[in-house]
Amino acid sequence: MSTKTEMISEYPPLTRVPRHVAIIMDGNGRWAQRRGLPRSAGHEAGTENLRRVIRGCVEFGVEILTIYAFSTENWGRPRWEVQALMRILEGVIDKELGELAAEGVQLRHIGVLDRLPGKLQDKVHRAIELTKNNTRLIVNIAFNYGGRDEIVHAVQAIIRDGIPAEEITETLINSYLYTAGLPDPDLIIRTSGELRVSNFLIWQGAYAEYYVCSTLWPDFDRDELRKALEHYARRERRFGKVSTPDLA
Ligand code: FPP
Repeated sequence: MSTKTEMISEYPPLTRVPRHVAIIMDGNGRWAQRRGLPRSAGHEAGTENLRRVIRGCVEFGVEILTIYAFSTENWGRPRWEVQALMRILEGVIDKELGELAAEGVQLRHIGVLDRLPGKLQDKVHRAIELTKNNTRLIVNIAFNYGGRDEIVHAVQAIIRDGIPAEEITETLINSYLYTAGLPDPDLIIRTSGELRVSNFLIWQGAYAEYYVCSTLWPDFDRDELRKALEHYARRERRFGKVSTPDLA
């Protein structure tokens, strides 16, 4: 993103834009493997692609983008890969924060920071603080995030707060999740063709529209994002109801 001037899109306006898009950025490893490169090169290429997708979200009018960057299960990857992903998060903050902040991006985090190196935790907190008043696009980074872990954390906090059983509602549970205050995702995109939820936004995604494409994440460019948004615009969202209720 280079200038904060309004982006003029050559695409016609969409008939409906999802407010909140969430992405499982899958396929970095395969992208690298196909090129005879180490997996870390795939993650680097995936990070570069993130810049394009953030720009696309601003251009197409998305308000919130949640990205799955590191899951609670990813600790099981080889040590060097875990460290590479930590370095990438640090690099994104070091190198991109100024520009993201200037562009009006608000950075948030969902998940647990505790297990991350202290210096990285500080950087994440600083990035959140620096951008908290920005309103152009919320970029919510799921890092050391797991949907089940989030629900366990919420239940523990509810019990700790002494909330009686009869006061437990969906609204209350929402307010204890890492995503408290954010609307549920309207569209969840998964790249690289895998048909799995992988513990991502399992509560919040109850009525999300899913879009899966075979493109590997580093190749999921602006046109691919546009295609996903066009698919979404054509979906009929019924939220468990029917589109044309019986008159009888
Ligand atoms: C899944 O691909 C991808 C990840 C586990 C990491 C995603 C991270 C990025 C795109 C970098 C951006 C990160 C930050 C912190 C902003 P995979 O490695 O499982 O691919 P494969 O299924 O082809 O092996």
